[in-house]
Amino acid sequence: MQTHLRGRDMITTQEWTKSEIDTIIDVALDLKRKRAMGMPHAILRDKVLSMLFFFTSTRTRNSFEAGMAQLGGHAQFIDHQTTQISHGDTGKEIGEILGRYNDGIAIRQCDWGIGNDYIRGVAKASRVPVLNMQCDHFHPFQILADLLTIIEHKGDPRGKTINVSYAYAKSYQKPMSVPISLILLMTRFGMNVRLTRPPEFKLIPDYVEQAKENARKSHGSFEIYDDFDAGFKDADIVYPKAWGAMLTTTNDDESARISQQYTNWITDERRMAMAKDDAIYMHCLPADRNIEVTDGVIDGPQSVVYDEAENRLHVQKAVMALTMS
Ligand code: CP
Repeated sequence: MQTHLRGRDMITTQEWTKSEIDTIIDVALDLKRKRAMGMPHAILRDKVLSMLFFFTSTRTRNSFEAGMAQLGGHAQFIDHQTTQISHGDTGKEIGEILGRYNDGIAIRQCDWGIGNDYIRGVAKASRVPVLNMQCDHFHPFQILADLLTIIEHKGDPRGKTINVSYAYAKSYQKPMSVPISLILLMTRFGMNVRLTRPPEFKLIPDYVEQAKENARKSHGSFEIYDDFDAGFKDADIVYPKAWGAMLTTTNDDESARISQQYTNWITDERRMAMAKDDAIYMHCLPADRNIEVTDGVIDGPQSVVYDEAENRLHVQKAVMALTMS
């Protein structure tokens, strides 16, 4: 267990060692157990987390807010539209000033080509930890929750096959932060990671190279598929979700036209049957029901989507307790 994590930012898990991530999972399980037994754990009494949202959220906002209350502190919700950001407050000012009022700053800024740079700018100016609640590159708390969920359902991740796949959705050009974060983290745990996507839905090449290197070091594997059905074959874990074709086009109409070629990339019962009998279905939510995944699969016995959503609470509490105490 690592005990020197006070003051650390969580922008991407790639900047935390494997041993530090093991510590997060260990503390998350301890806090989960304490909550299940009704044991108080006010580790962050009198501490305040500032949560700045440039995008909407159901799970992230609620789990951070509930988590801070359970730790004895307070989380303040700030919608960027109610701030002076559009009138000139820069990332430097947000970091300097909110860092003087609060004990942590959490930010969701998913704008393509902007979000990660913005969060890093705030972190540079801040005297307190900055937590990435999702940007255009990373969604670290989602995939920490996913790792905990995999461990709970599958035990040791080493040697397990996870299929991180594109799926069709027509709602909007969703960030590629979840698949990038998944391939970066799961390759560090000795998993056999498949990235399955059409050619227009490539992920940022630097991170794909890092995933390959992670897999080499952990004695796992990393492969890229472009056949949706093939990705399911004999997988232990399937994680098909939509993301945008931002590396191909940033034009929404063009992106919608490209996506239309892949309307059959839907997770259904036939495809689930190609995975191992005890395979689990994962999705970070929200999902486009009966477009991205059928009701039968997402509500079926192999789906663990609500465990994933719950585990957001526990891993976030762990990171806050370790970095903000
Ligand atoms: N999975 C996730 O981040 O959910 P929200 O967008 O609702 O926060």
